Amino acid sequence: MTDEGWKTKGAAEKYIQTVDVVAPGRKEILSIIARLAAHKASDIPSIMDIGCGWGDVTEEILKYKPHVSVVMLDYSEEMVGICKDKFKDNPNIKVMQYDLNQGLPSLDIKFDAVVSCFALHHIEFENRVKLYTEIRRTLKDEGIFANGDLFKADSPVLNQWEFDNYINWMAKQLKEKLGQTYEFSDLKTRQLDNYRIMRDMPGTIWDMCTDLKKSGFQFVDCLCKYQNLAVLAASNN
Ligand SMILES: C[S@@+](CC[C@H](N)C(=O)[O-])C[C@H]1O[C@@H](n2cnc3c(N)ncnc32)[C@H](O)[C@@H]1O
Repeated sequence: MTDEGWKTKGAAEKYIQTVDVVAPGRKEILSIIARLAAHKASDIPSIMDIGCGWGDVTEEILKYKPHVSVVMLDYSEEMVGICKDKFKDNPNIKVMQYDLNQGLPSLDIKFDAVVSCFALHHIEFENRVKLYTEIRRTLKDEGIFANGDLFKADSPVLNQWEFDNYINWMAKQLKEKLGQTYEFSDLKTRQLDNYRIMRDMPGTIWDMCTDLKKSGFQFVDCLCKYQNLAVLAASNN
């Protein structure tokens, strides 16, 4: 694979500088995922954070469960390097460079929770059911899969409306938080270019629900939906 999208040099730095400004409700989304994972954690808690990026989901979980063991996966060398450095003093955290389009690595561990935030819409559509199946198999019986992600609306008309709302919201945020002024149409073009460059491939929440059921999960819930972002959780109990 060529170095593009998230593997581009500097992508990690650019992400962390802007994500809290341009992702609506990110703090709440991280909090829901972390609180759910912590709630599901057993006496010997183990969690897998896939598409971990800078490790913000893991950091949030550690606030609730400081002794949790975490396996963090990401395919970007930059992100993996940042996480290895960030968590170097925590012997319970293992960071691996891994492409989730291959599914999950075979590890001799069962997890209380597999968590992900804003990463799985980058996975090729044809690889998603296989990935979710492997996630289900790596979970303990009582385990949970929680995914906060970018989704598109089912209706093209509502999808356009929601996207335009997002651009308006982002323009306001960029002005207020970073002092940057954009015309609506310029920001829209920039965002569409960004989606293409970063290979964003959001499905609908219904697509993900169908894929999770196909993967053998019995229950799928939407725990929160705000603008184009949502948190879905899947389990067998
Ligand atoms: C938007 S960032 C999210 C990072 C972090 N989870 C967060 O919430 O801040 C998306 C992450 O997914 C990773 N990613 C994208 N495609 C991937 C793949 N095929 N395998 C593993 N990681 C991938 C990227 O490298 C990037 O770190």
